[in-house]
Formats: sequence, C-alpha cells, structure tokens
Amino acid sequence: MANPTTIFFLTLFLVYFHKSLAVSYNILNFGANPDGTTDSTNSLSKAWSSACASTKPSTIYVPQGRFLLNNIHFKGPCKNKAITFRIDGTLVAPADYNAMGKTRNWILFEGADGVSIHGGTLDANGAALWACKKSGSNSCPSGATTLGISNSKNVAISGLRSLNSQMFHIVINGCQNVKLQGVEVLASGNSPNTDGIHVQLSLGVTILNSKISTGDDCVSIGPGATNLWIENVVCGPGHGISIGSLGKDFEEAGVQNVTVKTVRFKNTQNGLRIKTWGRPSKGFVRGVLFHHAIMTNVENPIVIDQNYCPNNKNCPGQVSGVRISDVTYQDIQGTSATQVAVKFDCSKMNPCQGIRLENVNLSYKNRPSQSSCSNAAGTTAGLIEPSSCLY
Ligand SMILES: *[C@@H]1O[C@H](CO)[C@@H](O)[C@H](O)[C@H]1NC(C)=O
Ligand SMILES: *[C@@H]1O[C@H](CO)[C@@H](O)[C@H](O)[C@H]1NC(C)=O
Repeated sequence: MANPTTIFFLTLFLVYFHKSLAVSYNILNFGANPDGTTDSTNSLSKAWSSACASTKPSTIYVPQGRFLLNNIHFKGPCKNKAITFRIDGTLVAPADYNAMGKTRNWILFEGADGVSIHGGTLDANGAALWACKKSGSNSCPSGATTLGISNSKNVAISGLRSLNSQMFHIVINGCQNVKLQGVEVLASGNSPNTDGIHVQLSLGVTILNSKISTGDDCVSIGPGATNLWIENVVCGPGHGISIGSLGKDFEEAGVQNVTVKTVRFKNTQNGLRIKTWGRPSKGFVRGVLFHHAIMTNVENPIVIDQNYCPNNKNCPGQVSGVRISDVTYQDIQGTSATQVAVKFDCSKMNPCQGIRLENVNLSYKNRPSQSSCSNAAGTTAGLIEPSSCLY
C-alpha cells in the first residue's frame, strides 16, 4: 500500500506530466501572416481542426501582429474539452464589408464545450458599413456579429477587446455556463445596431468587470436568458443595459433570475431598461435585481416600456402580453438628463407586479426629478427621489 507522501508526489507528477502533454498550435506554423493584409483564415481553420481533433488539452496561439480574417466557423464537438485561444495580436476583418457577404457572424463558435479565449483584439472594421447604413442606401448588407457563441457550454472569455463591430459585438445564444470578464467593447456612440453583449436562450451567463462604449445597448438581454449575472460593468456611450426587446413573437421564452450589480452609466440613452413590444405574447420577465447603479447624465435612468412599436408597424392599438413581475431597484443614484427619471409604462392587460424601489435618488439639474407610472404596482423602502408613483 502506498503511503500518503508517495501518493502526493505521484499526483504532482501526473499533473505536471499531463500539462506537458498539452499541445500548442501557433498559427504562424499554419502559414498565418501578421502583416494585416494576407488572408489568414485558412491557417486559423487548420489550427482549430488540429486542436479540436486532439485528445489532449490544446492551445491555439495568436502572436502579436494583425491577422486578416474572413468569416470563420469554429465548430464542435471536439475530442477534448479544454481548448484555449491565447491571443496577443489582433484579428482584423476585411475592409470591404461585402467580403463577408450575408454571413451573420464574423467569428462563430458552435457546439463547443470547454473553450476559453484569453486576450486579443477583434477589429471588425465596421465604420464603412455604418456610413452605408446612415446614407439611407438600401443596398447595405445588415452586417455580421463580431463574435458569436452558439449552442455551446463551459466557455470563458477574458481580456478580449472588440472594436467597431458591423452589427452586434458579442452574441451568446443557446449556451450554458459562459463567463466573460475584463471584456472591452468599443465603437462610436452613433454606430447603428452595435450592441455590446447580447444574451439569449442561455442559462448561467456571467459578465464581470467590463467596459462597454457603443452605439446601441451595452448589454441586451433577449428571450430565454436565465440565471444571468452582470457585475461591475461601465456603460457609455450606449443605450444602457436592456432586458428586451421582448414579446415580438407570441411563442417566446421568458427571462428569469437576472442580477445586475454595481454598474455605472455615463451619458447613455437609458440606464436600467425593460422593453417589450406592444403585441400579444406568452413571454415574461420575473426575478430581476438591479443593485447599486450610478447614473451620470442618463436620459432614462430607470425605464420599463411595454409599448415598443417601431415605425408603428404591426402593433398600434395592441397591448403587450409580456408579464413583468418581481423587479427590484436597490441603491440607484445619480443624475438624469431628462425630467422624468423613473418611468414605468406597463401593459394595460398585464400590469407590472411586484416592482420594488429601495433607496433611489435621481436628480435632474440639481432639482428633484419626476416619475411616471401606468399600470405599475409595487412597494418602496428608504429614500425615494423622485417620489414613487407605484400603486
Ligand atoms: C439565480 O442565478 C444565479 C446566477 O446568476 C444563481 O447563482 C442562482 O442559484 C439562481 N437562483 C435560482 C433560484 O435559480
Ligand atoms: C440625493 O442626491 C443628490 C444629488 O446627487 C444629493 O445632493 C442629495 O444629498 C441626495 N439625497 C440624499 C438624502 O442622500
């Protein structure tokens, strides 16, 4: 029988032995070129194929430099559950936005289990497409999401920078256990549809310590987001942290158990928003905690809008079927850029239930701001400024 000391050293040996067996794939060895103009898509594809086929933990290394990358699909399942991208350099999208054609994602992970991405910059070169869209031309493609993570689990992303996405920066869709931390998202405040991080149909997504400056929602939370945790995020410019739009479809998964904690908004269109279409739907939002937010010059610091009806198409005169309940706002401080700092515009058919305000203090030009309610029921505790209009 081996004694404990022997077992200890044997274990240590096995751990190190195992690590030394982890394989590393430098994309330069697959022909990638860091000059920013030679297409490296094939090299990255081959590196992924090797890493994915390996039965041992594997690392794909992207060294310093700029690597031109067309749309790429990292598809699982793989033979191991520990593939790491270590990125020191920048992946750059083609300057011509038509190069990606109608692809919905520039970089897409699908069906992966146990993938992590550490560091790196993704530069999607979106400005030309934004200009096309803003010119009113109807020949512009809708553009690609920079980084899509679909139907995957156990994914970790840290220290990643996303620049100038064509459409959304990062989309988490149909996933389980995804952790993003130290992510930086950067695009112009007037770039169209450049949401920072979008989460939908996913269970257990965590977003920590991130900074998002963009032209649309900093974080947008779509149908079927459950057990979502957002902490220590700075947003601005941007449209805030939004649950929604929800209720566009009649059959729609609900949003449940969302925590948004220690967030700062600066010069944003919204702070903490819930937005639903004024249309019939089986969707719902329940169990949301907004805890400790600081607003600086935010147009709509606290807002629930259940009458979203863009271009007045397919919804006028209808009411939202989305049921909103159990939403708490705790310790929300700072300044509103408009007089109405708190607005609950809930569905006539499904009034908001269980709205809770605790220690909210929002001012407008050094004066008290106002609140506005329709069909919103709830309770308050502590100092509430503007005074509550919940029934
Ligand atoms: C709510 O979500 C958090 C993670 O964001 C999780 O830790 C917690 O267990 C969930 N609560 C319930 C009741 O599922
Ligand atoms: C509310 O906020 C304003 C401005 O930020 C501040 O001057 C005021 O003291 C606060 N009120 C309380 C009771 O904390």
